[in-house]
Amino acid sequence: MDDELCMPERVDGSAQALFAALREALGTSTVLSGVDIPARNEKDWSTLGPVQPLAVVRPTNTEGVAAAMRICAQYGVPVVPQGGLTGLCGGARPIEGAVALSLERMVGVEEIDTASATMTVKAGTPLQIVQQAADEAGFFMPLDLGSRGSCAIGGNLSTNAGGNRVIRYGMAREMVLGIEVVLPDGTVVTSLNKMLKNNAGYDLKHLFIGSEGTLGIITRIVLRLSPKPGCTMAALCALGSYEKVVALLNAARRGLGPLLSAFEVMWPDYWRTVTQQVPGVSSPLSGEHACYVLIEVQGMDEAFDVPRFDAWLERQMEEGILADAAVAQSMADVHAFWGVRDACAEFPQVLGTHEAFDIGLPVAVMDQYVSACLAALRDKYANAVALFYGHIGDGNLHIVACVPGAQIQPKEEIAAIVYALVQQFGGTISAEHGIGISKKPWLSYTRSEPELVLMRRVKDALDPRNLLNPGKVV
Ligand code: LAC
Ligand code: ZN
Repeated sequence: MDDELCMPERVDGSAQALFAALREALGTSTVLSGVDIPARNEKDWSTLGPVQPLAVVRPTNTEGVAAAMRICAQYGVPVVPQGGLTGLCGGARPIEGAVALSLERMVGVEEIDTASATMTVKAGTPLQIVQQAADEAGFFMPLDLGSRGSCAIGGNLSTNAGGNRVIRYGMAREMVLGIEVVLPDGTVVTSLNKMLKNNAGYDLKHLFIGSEGTLGIITRIVLRLSPKPGCTMAALCALGSYEKVVALLNAARRGLGPLLSAFEVMWPDYWRTVTQQVPGVSSPLSGEHACYVLIEVQGMDEAFDVPRFDAWLERQMEEGILADAAVAQSMADVHAFWGVRDACAEFPQVLGTHEAFDIGLPVAVMDQYVSACLAALRDKYANAVALFYGHIGDGNLHIVACVPGAQIQPKEEIAAIVYALVQQFGGTISAEHGIGISKKPWLSYTRSEPELVLMRRVKDALDPRNLLNPGKVV
């Protein structure tokens, strides 16, 4: 088979000719170039600096995305897809000489099918809008992360976002039944399946989910909605050791079963920093403890599930697993408890320039890793600051690290220390944020050569001219 089967004929032309072709197909206001390029489209939330793209194209529908992709393929100009630009690894950061294709004008819920419990939504829709629409229709969209107000659902899928409730509902991948995607040659593949079971051949959506915009541009999505929880409970717990955290996690799985919706762990330096330095965040617990855990539970019926949760917590206290606990008495308390965990969003203000990591490790070795990592960082930089926290029920540890007072943060050196230990402990360099550009040098720490070769073969098969988000991931 011709490897460029559907690729449009190549056209030799200047950037001006490309802009003219794009404007003719999509309308003048859809294509921004030169001084009209918005600063926001020049970077994402990673610490990598801005890059001005050749142009920003903002289609309003799938046909527009397809036309833009086809024209860029004709001119041999690469395309970087952009959603809410909240990614932390540079996946949506422009590449010099490439067109940034932003889905920011493809916003809205197309349909809520109450019988199938699905929502069909445009890819540029902010996650929070999706959550609200589900709620208004009597359902629940379980995907949730700190950037909910800014991130786009299409970006959530292209990065296979994780977030706060993976322990119960899985990653973004688990919440998708169908997608529509535009391929690098401009072909539209509409696969808006609504059925939970569909084994008719390869499940193609999973190729694109988590591919960080390197294989196709997701334009529309069928989401699988969950039943709205009848009640939400939360507790902030203090524990005397990491062993007790593991005991608590196992007790929660056994005693709370499928109601357990979050199990977030914070180490003492994190706790101290956010409760003492982030405005509006305070500790409902007293004293210093080895670990802190935020437990969230979503029940069906307040009358049964609130007493069940309280009794379970009391048992953990009696058995000596908990040193202390604060139980939310209202939804305001639940939000305040999450405030301690979400306070990590304030680290740029509190710590200044720092490196952020999103590693995965077996739950059993997590605390050994924390000690080893802190020791190794301090060994090299005596005053290094490293804060540890994360979705420990999912084996996902976040680290923020910096060397206070350093003229330039030793980014590479810090990363080398963090990732060498990840490799040693059998973890992954990315649990939920993806690879983008910033983690690419380390991919082989986590993936074997045959895995990497297969990734490159998939990329070559779908994007033989390397036009879609080139240089990212693989
Ligand atoms: C969090 C983001 C950083 O869990 O993944 O807060
Ligand atoms: Zn996270």
